[in-house]
Amino acid sequence: MKPPRALASPRVVNIDDLRTLAWRRLPKVVFDYLDGGAEAEFTLRENQRAFQGVTFRPRNAVAIPQCDQRTRVLGLDLSFPALLAPVGYSRMMHPGGEVAASRAAGAAGTVYILSTISGHKLEDVKAASSAPVWYQLYLVGGRETAEGAIERARVAGFSALVVTIDTARAGMRERDFRNGMIELLGRKPLAKLPFLAQFLARPRWLTRFFLDGGVPRLPNIVIPGQGPMPVIDVSAALTQANVTWEDLQWIRKVWRGPLVVKGVLTGEDARRAVDEGAAAVVVSNHGGRQLDCVSATLRALPEVVAAVDGRAEVLMDGGIRRGADIIKAICLGARAVLIGRAYAYGLGAAGEAGVTRALQILRADVERTLRLLGCPSIAALNRSYVEVSPSWQPG
Ligand SMILES: Cc1cc2nc3c(=O)[nH]c(=O)nc-3n(C[C@H](O)[C@H](O)[C@H](O)COP(=O)(O)O)c2cc1C
Repeated sequence: MKPPRALASPRVVNIDDLRTLAWRRLPKVVFDYLDGGAEAEFTLRENQRAFQGVTFRPRNAVAIPQCDQRTRVLGLDLSFPALLAPVGYSRMMHPGGEVAASRAAGAAGTVYILSTISGHKLEDVKAASSAPVWYQLYLVGGRETAEGAIERARVAGFSALVVTIDTARAGMRERDFRNGMIELLGRKPLAKLPFLAQFLARPRWLTRFFLDGGVPRLPNIVIPGQGPMPVIDVSAALTQANVTWEDLQWIRKVWRGPLVVKGVLTGEDARRAVDEGAAAVVVSNHGGRQLDCVSATLRALPEVVAAVDGRAEVLMDGGIRRGADIIKAICLGARAVLIGRAYAYGLGAAGEAGVTRALQILRADVERTLRLLGCPSIAALNRSYVEVSPSWQPG
């Protein structure tokens, strides 16, 4: 697909350019929700900074006639080693939201993971993609509500269930607090007045938002006897939705397909997740949006890979903004990565075309980096292609 002019090179060369475009096109409250992290945003920064501690060891003067980016994740053939991470409230960034991101992922030959906090029906999101789609589960609304969503996901053909375990409650995202995110999503029309100036400064977003019907209810969190949950209730509901290992055992009985546990940062939790039946774990700190001051995910990755010891697949996310980051994570033992903000900036910048552009950028990065490394394929990557900074080691 030819990108719209605003997305074409040289205006948009990398993911940071898409971030700038999203910043220009989204109201501040929406951009900060997407861009921000928890508390002092230490982990948010560290996730990206950790990649600087890993440098490449290229093999030059090697002929690479074919460069193969394919990989296999949970038995699925992907044309690209990055999956699209679950991003809640995507419909606020663009009305296309989860449907647009799913369609773009399918066209790129990779998996889209739909968040529980979706503005579109899970059936529509599944139907939009020509590739497999996974469902991410929070226990908001309780087990009965979750069971309904799991059953709908099964019938719709979602091929894996991703259970996020790092959200005992919502993190303290100070930017959202200051910006009045709660008032924006709330029920009192007068409380929305202070947003008028920033909304009027983004007329294109505002028009689309109104044409889309404003803040939607959440069609995949259907509380028995009450219907879809209003967005404003999610934060409080999350506080009662802590997933425990006991819940995981229950989920294991309700969902018979592959189970992925997202939000693992230590070898102990990784082993426990595999013991409880996870086919894959995602080394993730929620993009620095939950507990601040946990380590960067790239740093946690080797410990998890060693602990899992081949009994399950290891994926990772956090801070990936370039194809080189994807390759570094794979060299350190990840089967593939998840990208969050990297595609969500594209969604905020230009809907489906923006997500497509983000994936094009990363795909071109991966191809170039593999060739310059002298490595013919994702499958051939290993630890010998990178050097880890001594400052990573304790002491
Ligand atoms: C705006 C936003 C919303 C998110 N919503 C969810 C969610 O609903 N469920 C979930 O498991 N993770 C959620 N995440 C975390 C992502 O799935 C992923 O772990 C994180 O974005 C990876 O870091 P990155 O953005 O630096 O790539 C969200 C992340 C962002 C940026």
